[in-house]
Amino acid sequence: MGNAVRHLLSIEGLTKQHLLRLVNNGREFVEVLQRDLKKVPTLRGKTVINLFLEPSTRTRTSFEIAAKRLSADAVNVSEGGSSIVKGETLLDTALTLQAMAPDILVVRHKESGAAHFLARHLRTTAVVNAGDGMHEHPTQALLDLLTLQQHFAAHNRSLEGLRIAIVGDIRHSRVARSNMWAHALLGNEVRLVGPRTLLPEYFASLPGLRGNISLFHSLQEGIRDVDVVMCLRLQLERQSEFFIPSLEEYSREFGVTRTLLDACAPKAVVLHPGPANRGIEVSSEVLDSPRALMQQQVTFGVAIRMAVLLDAALGGEVEESHQIAGGHAA
Ligand code: NCD
Repeated sequence: MGNAVRHLLSIEGLTKQHLLRLVNNGREFVEVLQRDLKKVPTLRGKTVINLFLEPSTRTRTSFEIAAKRLSADAVNVSEGGSSIVKGETLLDTALTLQAMAPDILVVRHKESGAAHFLARHLRTTAVVNAGDGMHEHPTQALLDLLTLQQHFAAHNRSLEGLRIAIVGDIRHSRVARSNMWAHALLGNEVRLVGPRTLLPEYFASLPGLRGNISLFHSLQEGIRDVDVVMCLRLQLERQSEFFIPSLEEYSREFGVTRTLLDACAPKAVVLHPGPANRGIEVSSEVLDSPRALMQQQVTFGVAIRMAVLLDAALGGEVEESHQIAGGHAA
């Protein structure tokens, strides 16, 4: 593969042009996913290994389906089924897998920086970050953008000029971090909303976010007149201290409900990366209503991961969207 290796490790550091190309290529694949035969020959002969060392339903399945729909061979490795439980290091495991000549290694890991670390050591395999600790989850931000692009296109609006509130456990969220960078690149207004304990002040002054970000500790104020409310799961598995007094109190102050949306942001759509804790960060009534785009996020996730795998496998070779979705698999 040589020079064609192209990692996707974070949204931070991408150019706006690259970000939009991935979203637009994802849009091309939406059309493939609507066909009877949802498969194209684009990555025939390529191999994708999904190394998921943290629990995952949608991301892992989505990467596997994306690889198969591109006609690539997909292999799944989980922690329980790997030699990591025998004490092998992450790097040794990754080098072992690289020796079998996969084109792409999709990695999910509980440590922030794990994907960057592997990318520094792998020579012939492209690394795609499927979530590293609290750091980034780039394909989630991309699929969120594709979902918004599809939704707002129907209202004659583009991805630019949006006002988005990201609500909840920002501190522990890689989804929030990737989305912040993505919307800052697009020049959108990003409001981070949450209790002080889950919303570190330094987010407002991160260099590179160019004054696009503001912090709110009141849900009503934070979501007022926004176009998009992105709810985040309270990530109790990452919390070693007590950041909230109780779940009841948290959901009373920061749970997104229909009454609140009707009063403060009646036109807003609601995103949630899943898995959702119904009744805590968002009510079931909101999640099950047409303004919630959670199922669309999952559907478009497959298309985005097809675009990301294509980009990782073929690097700069395929830049034009009209080349990507053509043909049917034999
Ligand atoms: C997110 C993750 O794992 O970071 N989920 C996902 O990938 N869809 C968010 C979460 O776990 O809360």
